[in-house]
Amino acid sequence: MTPMVERVSNYQAESVRDPISVLMEEHRQAFEHLMKLEQAVSSMDEQGFNRAAFENLAEAIRFFDSDFRLHDRKEEQILFPFLERYKPGITGEYRNEHRELWSAFNTLLSCVHDVEDGRLRGTSRHELTETAKKIIRLLRGHMMNENTYLFVQTKNMLSDAEYTDLSEKIAAAAK
Ligand SMILES: [Fe+2]
Ligand SMILES: [Fe+2]
Repeated sequence: MTPMVERVSNYQAESVRDPISVLMEEHRQAFEHLMKLEQAVSSMDEQGFNRAAFENLAEAIRFFDSDFRLHDRKEEQILFPFLERYKPGITGEYRNEHRELWSAFNTLLSCVHDVEDGRLRGTSRHELTETAKKIIRLLRGHMMNENTYLFVQTKNMLSDAEYTDLSEKIAAAAK
């Protein structure tokens, strides 16, 4: 017979978490990485280009390129379609911001590859820090709007059945 403590922890491990809590936790992690990115950029602005700052910047980039790409896919492919059923076009601005963000991110990635290949010149260094600042500004505003408006609308608009469906789909996407 399974001991009670083990059963409880198994249940918790298998339970489906609230989908908005999942997405907000991912935002919290992204805010932390944006802070790291901001520290790296201000170090480069103040002390010039340095290896320690570049390592921090590269670590933040790795997070956005993996975990945060998945986050945006969950929003675009799972969450947004639920909201569009009620208000077509409601997520248009958020989708545009995703595109703008990933375009800036691609520019940043190519600057980082230039550094790694030893090809970074003065103008590229400037482009790297300016692009990183743009990403910080864009993504902070975007996540604050999602936290304040879009996620609240999700809780208000979806039926209980839809919310359960959303929960299951977000949980499945995390695997
Ligand atoms: Fe988003
Ligand atoms: Fe988001």
